[in-house]
Amino acid sequence: KPKVSNTMTLMFQDATEFYHHVLLTTNAGRRGLRYARKRKMSDEILEHFQIGYAPKQDNLLLTFLRGRNYKDDDLFRSGLFVESKDGRLFDRFRDRLMFPLGNESGYVIGFSGRRISNDKTVAKYINSPETKLFNKSKVLFNFSEAKKAAKQEGHLVLYEGYMDVISAYKAGVKSGIASMGTSLTDQQIYMLKRVTKNIIINYDGDEPGVHAEERATKMFQKAGGFNIGVVVLPDGLDPDEYVKKYGAEKYQDEVKGAFTATDFFLKRLAKKYNLNNDREKIVYLDEAVKVIAKLTNPVEQDLYIDKIAKAQGVSKASLKANLIKQQRRER
Ligand code: UTP
Ligand code: MN
Ligand code: MN
Ligand code: MN
Ligand code: MN
Repeated sequence: KPKVSNTMTLMFQDATEFYHHVLLTTNAGRRGLRYARKRKMSDEILEHFQIGYAPKQDNLLLTFLRGRNYKDDDLFRSGLFVESKDGRLFDRFRDRLMFPLGNESGYVIGFSGRRISNDKTVAKYINSPETKLFNKSKVLFNFSEAKKAAKQEGHLVLYEGYMDVISAYKAGVKSGIASMGTSLTDQQIYMLKRVTKNIIINYDGDEPGVHAEERATKMFQKAGGFNIGVVVLPDGLDPDEYVKKYGAEKYQDEVKGAFTATDFFLKRLAKKYNLNNDREKIVYLDEAVKVIAKLTNPVEQDLYIDKIAKAQGVSKASLKANLIKQQRRER
């Protein structure tokens, strides 16, 4: 890493090391470590991702960083603390498993902390607030590491969550990044585009996840120039749960077997109709043709027309006729 002498960068480095040290070597960190073990995170994983724990006790990070002579102004600007009405600072993250969030070069610029208590009245994850350094719409968890892995694997894999990236890593898919939830941004797409055109979207298999995959796929298509693969995991599982349940090899098969964007859209569409009912089937076939009409490559169009004709027991010629009509309409 190049030498940097930026106060904020150093502070985040110190905070990362503090949380990590608390997790691995202190009594205060045992709650965190117990939780990490419950999530099947090995020492190697905790090390690689520099996972930490923000202790329950008041203000240990504040005390630590003040001991390193950081000024209150800088401490406040970091977003690591909240300010009371009378201007005093308090640790923002308490009793949480800490995921460092890096910029493109791998320097930590913020954190996300997972609740480890069972108290469902507090947010599952809380993130650093927006700061000069930390622009949420440009943050991708594990981006700097995934860039390197993308050279080997030939693609990047997009996840919802940190635990998904980590479990995929354990399963041998090391090019994982997370958009911190399902709200992918155009800035993030732009960052990905500079690394690879091969992008595999693997959000959670639940309805919000698959719905968000639809949105993400359309965003990548609009940005243009991407080869998009979409993985839809069964039974609403997220990648972390899937790896735990079915193991590394099965998971790798899921990634290799990712749907093309068109296949994904057609499968989603088919689910909306009862294809045993002729009226519904006709509507479905109309809608399917509309999806295919959007493709610019005639060979690709032919491939999907063929697939649907075979699957639905209608002639290719009739679907083609509809396709031509549809394309005239769109022009
Ligand atoms: P999920 O609800 O799918 O959580 O949200 P998860 O990643 O499976 O978390 P675990 O396995 O229960 O620990 C996906 C992602 O959305 C963001 C986080 O980045 C999370 O990983 N999120 C979720 C938040 O920022 N805040 C929340 O309260 C919840
Ligand atoms: Mn360490
Ligand atoms: Mn989810
Ligand atoms: Mn999830
Ligand atoms: Mn999960």
